[in-house]
Amino acid sequence: MTTAGELPALLACPRCDGPLAAAGTSWRCAGCAVDFPEIAGIPWLFAEPNASLGEWRGRLHFSLQRLERDRQQLAAALAGDNLRLATRARLERLEHATRDHADRLRALLAPLAIEQNTASYETYLALRTRLPPDQGLTTYYANIHRDWSWGARENDASFDMLAALLGNTAPGRVLVLGAGAGRLAYDLHARTSAQLTVAVDFNPLLMIVADQVARGATLELYEFPLAPRGDAAVLRTLAAPAPARAGFVPMLADVLRPPFRRGSFDTVVTPWLVDILPERFDVLCARVNALLADGGRWLNFGSLNFHDADPAARYGLDECRAALEENGFGDLQVDEREIPYLSSPASRHARLEHVVSWSAHKQRNGKKPQRFQALPEWLVRGTEPVPLSDSFRSQAAATRIHAFLMSLIDGRRSIKDMVKLIVEQRLMTAEEAESALRSFLTKMHDDARRGTTY
Ligand SMILES: C[S@@+](CC[C@H](N)C(=O)[O-])C[C@H]1O[C@@H](n2cnc3c(N)ncnc32)[C@H](O)[C@@H]1O
Repeated sequence: MTTAGELPALLACPRCDGPLAAAGTSWRCAGCAVDFPEIAGIPWLFAEPNASLGEWRGRLHFSLQRLERDRQQLAAALAGDNLRLATRARLERLEHATRDHADRLRALLAPLAIEQNTASYETYLALRTRLPPDQGLTTYYANIHRDWSWGARENDASFDMLAALLGNTAPGRVLVLGAGAGRLAYDLHARTSAQLTVAVDFNPLLMIVADQVARGATLELYEFPLAPRGDAAVLRTLAAPAPARAGFVPMLADVLRPPFRRGSFDTVVTPWLVDILPERFDVLCARVNALLADGGRWLNFGSLNFHDADPAARYGLDECRAALEENGFGDLQVDEREIPYLSSPASRHARLEHVVSWSAHKQRNGKKPQRFQALPEWLVRGTEPVPLSDSFRSQAAATRIHAFLMSLIDGRRSIKDMVKLIVEQRLMTAEEAESALRSFLTKMHDDARRGTTY
């Protein structure tokens, strides 16, 4: 049970913000009558704990299926004639690594109990929480290796940026949001006088690795380099320089429903996070403000590359600065540096990123942040009209044309035959139709050869 000292006094229910009490190996909100479990010894403080467990089980299942499909492809390639010796050896190593990797993932994530039934989608709807579909189990898999096996260069460059902002001040109670595989949170705890460091992420693979390595365990997991310099699968040993001292607490939770009482932390750190969240930066400012004690500090670090569908929300640094000031922050210090990013020693591919970091002090309370709702009312309740937005309108038109083109493929018609039908339907002129159809079918042909699945 993770009761690290003062932690219980900082926790709040992610559904109602009421108090949470330790109850054996779980946490309980008496108001909601909900128990939040621990998974692999890590508090699982999602607003809808069973539904999020179901989602992550599904993602693990999906990752394992994909690995098995990759392995079968390798086995099929190995069955081919006329393979060079070196090619055969490479494919054999990769097939073995792919199978072994799946076994290792399954064992590491056994606490998710993948074999159990997943919670229904309706439970998500009830609370309007939902994991973003673009966040798979292995979306940030390379971070595990960067954090715990590639050496100090990148990790030190990240820590140094935050250390420069901290100067000689003690960080007090620290919360790291979107902590990933946990190295920066670990370094902050190990290399500063932090009283308590809570590392929050919603990805169980990353947090389980962070937790085990920080406890002093040594793990072995494969790295599959983006552009291999040698082996396409490298078995890496993951280890921390030393076990974390007391007060380092990994936690599984959603940053958009943080399970903490107001004003619980002296320092909130957001490494590579602010621009990947699905809500406006202003709302995040209000959220961080609420988590900080008076005079507390927000340390941000990473890229500023907002992707919001609304161009007005894709802020640059000046707009972030203005939003910070409007949301109760002042005494702003900003630093920008070029640092290496995900430069694996096993890969020919590497990035340099021009990152920004800031320190902003909470000078007054901001607006109470709204509770995050992943889905709109018409989707949740199902009784209101589905809005005919411009985007839905154009998606519907494209899908109709797509479906029509697909329906023309019957194993007998040629491209020229199909063009005649498209022209008859007045969808395009003959010239347009022929080149559009050829690029459409070329893409399908390429997808089929690449083994893309839908
Ligand atoms: C770009 S990665 C950065 C990871 C880590 N901070 C680092 O610098 O290596 C973003 C991290 O945020 C996590 N994340 C994204 N949305 C989140 C959410 N709503 N709640 C909790 N974690 C989230 C992802 O799982 C991922 O680990």
